[in-house]
Amino acid sequence: MDKFVIYGGKPLKGEIEISGSKNAALPIMVATLLSPGKYIINNVPRLRDVRTMAHLLRIIGAKIEFENHTLVIDTTQADFPEAPYELVKTMRASIYVLGPLLARFKQARVSLPGGCAWGPRPVDLHIKGMQSLGARLDLDGGYIVARGTKLTGTHIYFDVSSVGATGNVMMAAVLADGTTTLENAATEPEIIDLGNFLISMGARIEGLGSKIIQIEGVPGLHPSDYTVIPDRIETGTFLVGGLISAGNINLKKCQPRHVMKILEKMKEAGATISVSENEIHLSSEKGIQPVNVTTDVYPGFPTDMQAQWIALMSIARGSSVVTDNIFQDRFTHVPELNRLGAQIVQKNNSVFITGVKKLNGAPVMSTDLRASASLVLAALAAQGKSDVLRVYHIDRGYETIEIKLQKLGADIVREDSGEVTS
Ligand code: EPZ
Repeated sequence: MDKFVIYGGKPLKGEIEISGSKNAALPIMVATLLSPGKYIINNVPRLRDVRTMAHLLRIIGAKIEFENHTLVIDTTQADFPEAPYELVKTMRASIYVLGPLLARFKQARVSLPGGCAWGPRPVDLHIKGMQSLGARLDLDGGYIVARGTKLTGTHIYFDVSSVGATGNVMMAAVLADGTTTLENAATEPEIIDLGNFLISMGARIEGLGSKIIQIEGVPGLHPSDYTVIPDRIETGTFLVGGLISAGNINLKKCQPRHVMKILEKMKEAGATISVSENEIHLSSEKGIQPVNVTTDVYPGFPTDMQAQWIALMSIARGSSVVTDNIFQDRFTHVPELNRLGAQIVQKNNSVFITGVKKLNGAPVMSTDLRASASLVLAALAAQGKSDVLRVYHIDRGYETIEIKLQKLGADIVREDSGEVTS
């Protein structure tokens, strides 16, 4: 297993490019199942989760080539409508195949994702949505099993605004008979990107980016080539890296429109920010101010930036509070940040942070994707050496982050930790 060895205290300086969005690329890859044929998907990040999804699509029968940042996916021969537990347990996003499998094959056998460290993460909205479209679903041996399903358009109200359920049901509805209305739909840029890809395949969708999405079912779709949007969470992570290290950085190939709330909070925290079409420049002369954050659905402050923000606030000049209203117990990074000398106390779904003058390097353990990003950021600011263990978590969602950080002057290397995978 790999670890990062980081010597902190160096300001990040220079320029890097932001990769394509993981959370847009994953459902777009799955949507290629909806119509047999060959697809060319560009700006796809080279991530562990993308490789896992490619593996799942191969099991279903697709042929996949992945060169640089281009995926060539051929779903002509796909004929095995199943997502096995072994894969789904490593990546919850595998549940996204349910909609396209039901729409194309009228049947599916998809493992339930299982537990998550952040508390309950049900998929009831995905299941209810498919049942509303007329799918007959049973739970059998930990699997969602659907047979001989005919999908018919209808009105669906989501009790909670869910990115996954919106994307999954939208993919099922594009080939259903009649019109489907999704109310309280997710408005995240990744859902808009998935919707735009489906439209490029011939789907009829209106209202993307609003809380009400209308999908008029069509008899068939066709393959299409597409370019994935930049990753707004990677963008936000590097922006925090720039401020936490008192640096001066330029991010290219990003989409500033998708990170407005993050930019607003960065400015409040003391960053000097300038934006151009696909670039963001950050400098940090004024130190770090304490700024409270409460996560919300888009365009609110993303839960996927909560951990990174806590790391930043741990060395702010004063106290702050961070509350996560999306995932109530997504704080496994807090005890690890306290190992670096931070002063953070969790109470229910909030953490109370007393900013300290400096952090000190130490060995810390990654527990999930964004938690590991917060540990790397804190280690960049800490004095001395830190070992960030189990970085396979960070490889799920950041493309060679240590190489990008080295390009910005960070003292970080990847090493074999000698820990064996269980
Ligand atoms: C997506 O997860 C992202 N993952 C997550 O990013 C992100 O944290 C999350 O959206 C919120 O923005 C991908 O896109 C692959 P949700 P998803 O359904 O779809 C509840 C990362 O770090 N809910 O929007 O699983 C749920 O428990 C990952 O890149 C139900 O109650 O999130 C949560 O409280 C981590 N029933 C809320 O809705 C359901 O059926 C939002 O979850 C589904 C969700």
